[in-house]
Amino acid sequence: MANKRIDQPTGTETVGHEWDGIEELNTPLPRWWLWTFYATIAFAAVYVVLYPAWPLIDKATAGTLGWSSRGDLAKEMSAADMARQSVFQKIAATDIEKLPGSPELMQAAIAGGAAAFKVNCVQCHGAGAAGYQEFGYPNLNDDDWIWGGTLTDIEYTLNHGIRWEAADETRASYMPAFEGVLDTAQAKAMAGHVLSLSGKGQSSPAAAQTFAENCAACHGASGEGMPAMGAPALNDAIWLYGGSEAAVTKQILKPRHGVMPAWKGRLDPVTIKMLAAYVHSRGGGQKAAPAQPETQPADDVAGTQKAETDG
Ligand code: HEC
Ligand code: HEC
Repeated sequence: MANKRIDQPTGTETVGHEWDGIEELNTPLPRWWLWTFYATIAFAAVYVVLYPAWPLIDKATAGTLGWSSRGDLAKEMSAADMARQSVFQKIAATDIEKLPGSPELMQAAIAGGAAAFKVNCVQCHGAGAAGYQEFGYPNLNDDDWIWGGTLTDIEYTLNHGIRWEAADETRASYMPAFEGVLDTAQAKAMAGHVLSLSGKGQSSPAAAQTFAENCAACHGASGEGMPAMGAPALNDAIWLYGGSEAAVTKQILKPRHGVMPAWKGRLDPVTIKMLAAYVHSRGGGQKAAPAQPETQPADDVAGTQKAETDG
C-alpha cells in the first residue's frame, strides 16, 4: 500500500497496486461526468421533496406539490366529463333541423344515437337497422319513409310512437280491412294492380278503378304513399309486410297495424334527438323543405317531400 508514486510518462499518481510490473493509475474522473453525477443527486433531492417518493409502511411521502397519479386521472376524467356535458347541452339547445349545420355536433349526436340504438332499438329493427320484414319492423336504412324522413319527422315518430295508444299524439292511421268488401278474386286482382305499380304484377281496369276509389286517398293515385297517413309507398318495391302476391292480398283483406312504443318519457329528449340524428344518417334522411311557410298544412308538406324523394 505504501508504494504510491508518480508514474513518469503520464504524470499521474498510481494507486499502489502492482501485478507483474503492471501498475494501476489513479486517473481522476472526467469533469463532465462528475458534474452530471452531482446534477442527478441534486435532481433526486428536489424530486423527493416535491413529489411522492419515500416509501412508508402503507403509502409514500406525499410531496409538497400534492401530485398523485390518481389525482391526475381524476382531473383528466372530469375534463372529459365537462366536454361531454357541454356537447350534450349544445345538442339540447340546438334545433334539430340545425344540427347538420354544425358537423361536429351532428357527428356527436349520431355517435350518441348509435349507442342508444344498440340498447333500445335493435330487438325490433336489427343491429344494422335493417328491420325484419316478416314482422313488419321497417328497414331504417332505405330512403322509404312511412311517416316522413326529415329530422323533425323522425324525432316526432320517436317521441310519440306509432299506434301507441298510451301516447296522446301518437302517429296513428288504420288501413281498413277489405275482407267482405272485396271477394277473394277481387282481392287477388287488387294485389296484381298493387304489384304492377312497381312493375311486377298484372293490373286490370277494374282493379285500377277500385284502387282509385278505395286506396288512393291514403296511398296516393299512383301508390306514391302519404306520410301524413302513414300509408307506405306501394310503387317502390320496398315492402313492410312482403311483396309477394300472397302477402299483399293478406294485407288488403286483413291489414296489419304496426305498433312502435313512444320513447318520450322512457328516454331523455337529448337521447331521442341523437337517435333521430342517427336514424336520419343511416341513409335516405330527408332535408326539411327549405321554403315552406310555417302555416302550410302538415300533410301538404309531407306529401311534397314524399313526391320529391320517390322515383
Ligand atoms: C317493439 C318493436 C320496436 C322497437 C323496440 C322499436 N321500433 Fe321502431 N318501429 C317498429 C315498428 C313495428 C315500426 C313500423 C310501424 C308502422 O307500421 O308504421 C317502427 C317504425 C319506426 C320508424 C318509422 C320509420 C318510417 O319509415 O317512418 C322509426 C324512425 C323507428 N321505428 C325508429 C326506432 C328507434 C330509433 C327505436 C329505438 C329507440 C325503435 N324504432 C324501436 C317497432 C319497433
Ligand atoms: C285509411 C288509409 C288507408 C286506406 C284507405 C288503404 N290503406 Fe293500405 N295501408 C295504410 C296504412 C296506414 C298501411 C301501413 C300499415 C302498417 O304500417 O302497419 C297500409 C299498408 C298497405 C300495404 C302494405 C305495404 C307494405 O309495404 O307491405 C298494402 C299492400 C296496402 N296498404 C294496400 C292497400 C290497398 C290495395 C288499399 C285499397 C284496397 C289500401 N291499402 C287502402 C292505409 C290505408
